[in-house]
Amino acid sequence: MSTNDERIARLDAMRSRALLGGGQTRIDQQHARGKLTARERLELLLDAGSFVEIDAFVTARGADVDDDSILGDGVVTGHGTIDGRNVFVFSQDFTVFGGSLSEAYAGKICKVMDLAMKVGAPIIGLNDSGGARIQEGVVSLGGYADIFLRNTLASGVVPQLSVVLGPCAGGAVYSPAITDFIVMVEGTSYMFVTGPNVVKAVTHEDVDAERLGGATTHTSRSGVAHIAVPDEATALATTRRILSFLPQNNVAEPPRIVATDPTDRRDAALDGVVPDDATLPYDVHDVIGPIVDDGDFLEIQPGWAQNIIVGFARLGGRSVGIVAQQPSVLAGALDINASTKAARFVRTCDCFNLPLVTFVDVPGFLPGVDQEDGGIIRHGAKLLYAYCEATVPKVTVITRKAYGGAYDVMSSKHIRGDMNFAWPTAEIAVMGPAGAVNVIHREAIDAAANADAERARLVADYEARFANPWIAASRGYVDDVILPSETRPRLIRSLDLLADKRDVNPPKKHGNIPL
Ligand code: HXC
Repeated sequence: MSTNDERIARLDAMRSRALLGGGQTRIDQQHARGKLTARERLELLLDAGSFVEIDAFVTARGADVDDDSILGDGVVTGHGTIDGRNVFVFSQDFTVFGGSLSEAYAGKICKVMDLAMKVGAPIIGLNDSGGARIQEGVVSLGGYADIFLRNTLASGVVPQLSVVLGPCAGGAVYSPAITDFIVMVEGTSYMFVTGPNVVKAVTHEDVDAERLGGATTHTSRSGVAHIAVPDEATALATTRRILSFLPQNNVAEPPRIVATDPTDRRDAALDGVVPDDATLPYDVHDVIGPIVDDGDFLEIQPGWAQNIIVGFARLGGRSVGIVAQQPSVLAGALDINASTKAARFVRTCDCFNLPLVTFVDVPGFLPGVDQEDGGIIRHGAKLLYAYCEATVPKVTVITRKAYGGAYDVMSSKHIRGDMNFAWPTAEIAVMGPAGAVNVIHREAIDAAANADAERARLVADYEARFANPWIAASRGYVDDVILPSETRPRLIRSLDLLADKRDVNPPKKHGNIPL
């Protein structure tokens, strides 16, 4: 018979053993690669001292806690707080069989995911894994599928954030891919469906892991990941920051902080942001920065589809999602990538009750054979669909161009924009002046003695008549024409007004967004 002291001593010993994961040598190897351990990562992610572990004594199938099997089986799971709010976490432990996923390991992840759904709290996954535990075969595949199902059921219910801090390959990529945000570390993390060796064998392409699936690739070329950062500490701090804008779940409001930036602040510089010459670009960050609280804007996917800018900010202390064309890239035209980037962001904001603030300066959808071949119709429809179905408060500011179908798409009045403003520099019309006169005055231009002079005269006439906000304002398509410098107070007043907005879509199983 053991004494109480002996039993307590055993608990202490078991806890110490569990803390070591795959052992000190492998911990040292992990550090030597410039990587933190699963537990060190959780310490950085969570409020100090808040982590509570669950299932520390789980072992792999067939193992016995009394032999020298590894306690925890390669993943650290539990809960803690971020800024005082509950979150559930799993952190893959590369020191145990390369962080590979076993049946027991998958069961641990599923348990915290189920708890997160029951209590309505975010779930954050720290990924660093060699994929399916080869020794467990198909059972491991089943474990992945159990996780994918939960990722899907949790989608739009609780925020799900993924941080990729090492390998994440094969079918394993599909768990992060279903989550709301993926943060990757430059140089040490990669995601791909098949690695460089398989690529070489199948397509004869020579490519290394970094080019194939590193952070730069996925935040500038593929759009798979949202933010690339230089090191693990920044990745975990960025994850905390993303979460600070989001509610705990889909029936909670996003956190509201006390704004120290005056709500009636006007920035005179805004009145000069849009150049006199409508063909010249400007940087839309110079619009967003002066308007939002303290100039604080967390850009999401800053390196991909840069012709549209999306991200989080606060206005009067309220979290908002911002969508804005970037006139300095492709003149802010909507192409395939910009459409899918913004559509996804709009839906993310809508499911988590974040009002949408949209800044419009769009010459239209990008023309071209590549775009049509690639399905700009299908992809552009995603953005239209996303804005149409969104029921959160929608406030729109047309800063300059709003031409053609892109005018309708960008949170226009017609698709349930709640407050629609235009700056005096706005140009709202079916198409731009040059294109328009070529269509409607072609014969007159051809017949003119000086075709160029006649075209210029007609363009100037068109600009005077149509390239302005006044026709839209006279129809009530914009609610007001406002000074750029008064945009911040007007947006904050609008968001206050709309805080209790309730709008619903018709009952249905789910819509059929063009994918
Ligand atoms: C079991 C694994 C493992 C795995 C790594 N290890 N991956 N054990 N199952 N999948 C073990 C290694 O044997 C090694 O143990 C230790 O983890 C560290 O691995 P190293 O190879 O020494 O590390 P490194 O050089 O950094 O390479 C990491 C790696 C590589 C790139 C992840 O280990 C690797 O390629 N692993 C196999 C990846 C893979 O093919 N996974 C299955 C994919 S299929 P020892 O004891 O020797 O130190 C898949 C399907 C998912 O995942 C489907 C979901 C639907």
